Amino acid sequence: MPITGDVYREIGRSAAGAVSVVATFDAERRHVAALTVSSFVTLSFDPPLVMFAIQHGGASFRPMVEAREFGVSLLTAAQRHLAERFATRGSERRDVGDFEQGQTLPVPLLAGSLAQMECRTHQLVMSGDHAIVVGLVENARTQPGEPLLYFARRYGSFKPL
Ligand SMILES: Cc1cc2nc3c(=O)[nH]c(=O)nc-3n(C[C@H](O)[C@H](O)[C@H](O)COP(=O)(O)O)c2cc1C
Repeated sequence: MPITGDVYREIGRSAAGAVSVVATFDAERRHVAALTVSSFVTLSFDPPLVMFAIQHGGASFRPMVEAREFGVSLLTAAQRHLAERFATRGSERRDVGDFEQGQTLPVPLLAGSLAQMECRTHQLVMSGDHAIVVGLVENARTQPGEPLLYFARRYGSFKPL
């Protein structure tokens, strides 16, 4: 029996996840397409691949699926305001001033993140109402910190059992 939309949404709310911002510059590097995602996962160790899913229809969809390269910033609990900003529709979040540029690839990254990844688009899979974007990580940095998590429509941080 097919599940209802309510059950599907409840499953989504029940799946806690880490929060990242994925972003790409336009051709002139004057604007940024960026959005908050909880679908980021590390995919393959050799070669180093990561992936995220992006929903059709948003302003960032086309720039992200057409991008040859993109940045991933894995957020800390102190970066909740950035998660909120990049989950809201609006032109203010296209400001390049929010971002620093990658060292290897021209990709937008957020300073102070738990991890910054510079990715070359490796594969694109259209799947349902989302596209799965797979990136080859060409450069990355990490720093210690508390991760930002999202669960039941709320932000939180990690508490060991
Ligand atoms: C915690 C959180 C996680 C999200 N994860 C995703 C995701 O994995 N994929 C996606 O397409 N949208 C996700 N969204 C929704 C987008 O961030 C939101 O729709 C954003 O406005 C899309 O940007 P756009 O309008 O520029 O395309 C998430 C939102 C939040 C708050």
